[in-house]
Amino acid sequence: TPASGGATNTRDILQTLHHHDKNVLLLYGSQTGTAEDFSHKMARELTSRFDLKCMVADFADYDWDNLKDISSDVLVFFVMATYGEGEPTDNAIEFFDYLETEDDLSSLRYCVFGLGNSTYEFFNAIGRKTRDLLTEKQAESFAPYGEGDDGLGTLDEDFLAWKDGVFESLRNNLHFEEQELKFQPRIKLEVRDDLTAEDETVALGEPNKRYLNSDEDLTKGPFDNTHPYVAPIVNVKELFKSEERHCVHVDFDISGSNLKYTTGDHLAIWPSNSNENIEKFVEAFGLKDKLDEVFDLKRLDQTYVAPFPTPITFGAVLRHHLEISGPISRQLLLSIAEFALTDEVKKSIMALANNKAKFAEEITAKKYNFADVLLKISNGQPWTKVPFEFIIENLQHLTPRYYSISSSSSKEKNTISVTAVVEAEQIEDRLITGVVTNLLKDIDIVKNKRDVKPLVTYNLSGPRNKFFEFKLPVHVRRSTFKLPTSSTTPIIMIGPGTGVAPLRGFIRERVQQFENGVNVGKSVLFYGCRNREQDYLYKDEWVQYGEVLGDKFELFTAFSREDPNKKVYVQHKLLENSAKINQMLLDGAMIYVCGDAAHMARDVQAAFAKIISDERDISVEKAGVLIRSLKVQNRYQEDVW
Ligand code: 2AM
Repeated sequence: TPASGGATNTRDILQTLHHHDKNVLLLYGSQTGTAEDFSHKMARELTSRFDLKCMVADFADYDWDNLKDISSDVLVFFVMATYGEGEPTDNAIEFFDYLETEDDLSSLRYCVFGLGNSTYEFFNAIGRKTRDLLTEKQAESFAPYGEGDDGLGTLDEDFLAWKDGVFESLRNNLHFEEQELKFQPRIKLEVRDDLTAEDETVALGEPNKRYLNSDEDLTKGPFDNTHPYVAPIVNVKELFKSEERHCVHVDFDISGSNLKYTTGDHLAIWPSNSNENIEKFVEAFGLKDKLDEVFDLKRLDQTYVAPFPTPITFGAVLRHHLEISGPISRQLLLSIAEFALTDEVKKSIMALANNKAKFAEEITAKKYNFADVLLKISNGQPWTKVPFEFIIENLQHLTPRYYSISSSSSKEKNTISVTAVVEAEQIEDRLITGVVTNLLKDIDIVKNKRDVKPLVTYNLSGPRNKFFEFKLPVHVRRSTFKLPTSSTTPIIMIGPGTGVAPLRGFIRERVQQFENGVNVGKSVLFYGCRNREQDYLYKDEWVQYGEVLGDKFELFTAFSREDPNKKVYVQHKLLENSAKINQMLLDGAMIYVCGDAAHMARDVQAAFAKIISDERDISVEKAGVLIRSLKVQNRYQEDVW
């Protein structure tokens, strides 16, 4: 069997474990791939250090009703991300339903790691709930619970700390013997000299293998995280440009497809790595002559699922499938040390990887990526001893990036718009860009809107190249950030910066309703940016909406960098309008907050508590409880990141 496309063809987890003779099961609840990546990291070390036979599995690939019959010889790891308002990730929803109803799991031996973000209210709710439910069902814990905090940016370090605790339990309580860490590949790469990149069967980074068979109707969907719609970009408008950053409005045409969305949803854009980052990577590993070479993967471990289709070229893997541009962990450096060309380089890389403070200061803070670090340590010598299998297995795969949709599905059924800040940060001699930013930043905007420079993000040959001109793969993720069911309900919207994106969609929807003769409630928008001349998004549009809606629309602006002595933020504007806000809430208004989660959303919530407390003469604590109940009733909604 090829290494891609499903580990086994059964959904019976116990049978699969037995069939492949595994004694460790690592299950991940992952939304963006981090929990999945951690599971693989853990599996690799357990295999290498403790000679355990590990299987990593996606909850969504198996049925769970027989988990109670699992043998106590199997150690089960749960690596659980918390998503949104304390919810399980999409792939873990069904498993959770099972876990809640199962009553006896006494033969299950488990250990849990939770991934969460402390800037959100329900920090690590799912990791904790998994632990609590397993305890309640009498499952036996074999190692301490651990949790990571993405909010503090310590996820990697938290994971390492948890891992150390687990290893200690394995050594001291379970008496496993430990060996030195050594890469044990789960796949074997086989070069296909008989194929070239021109060959129709060779994958070149198409987001779905189905794109290889162009006869198939690809416009039907359903579109999801395994099957995007390759949508034409029909319009790119620059909203502002300053020295460090600029912001673009991008319209995707979905008229040729079955892709559907509703106002407030998110658009997932499938990224790819920039030329600069690929070149750096190629240099770091000496892969220059290999880019067009074709290979297949043979599975050594039958339960391993490759993150891309094969046969494929090296170049396509680097451009479209591996996360080569992002931050790296100390663990990755420790694992690659064995492939250093000299002892001296090996020593330096281990020293760096073992020094938490130095790593944070010199690597993380300066945003070095994998290739940067390796070249720095080896003084520019390529790391030619690193097997490509190591790279495939150790790097996270590229996953879509999510944007709040800024169009309205009732006003523009055939268009999905996003509002994106395109920021490129210069650190030393390196230009740091995100994996979607690098795609959007180079779109040359000429007055004629059809005159967009082709976005050849797919290095496909022949007619297949044409297929992706001016296009990017996308899919829609449903969100719960939605206008009230009644058009007459008043709404209070707070969205500084690009946080205004979905709120623009809301207002456009109300404008459309109003123009159709529907009665609409009052819409109030609090918008903030640095400077009215510089980064004021959709400045002219708000005026137009006001002309249509009259006193049904009101805009309050906060410019944070106009007065050098005073920051003016959206929450200050809220407080200035306490009486009005309070009255709107008494009239049943709904609140929508979009944008920065770490500070803005929290400060805005505190401002609402103060308003309620002042206006109704109750304590701030009581006002806080009231806000919490608004949240539970969905009258206070957030779309924050
Ligand atoms: P600043 O960058 O000048 O601090 C969009 O990013 C706007 O949100 C900017 O004007 C930014 O101001 C502002 N902003 C930064 N922190 C904020 C906070 N805690 N609450 C509200 N707005 C904030």
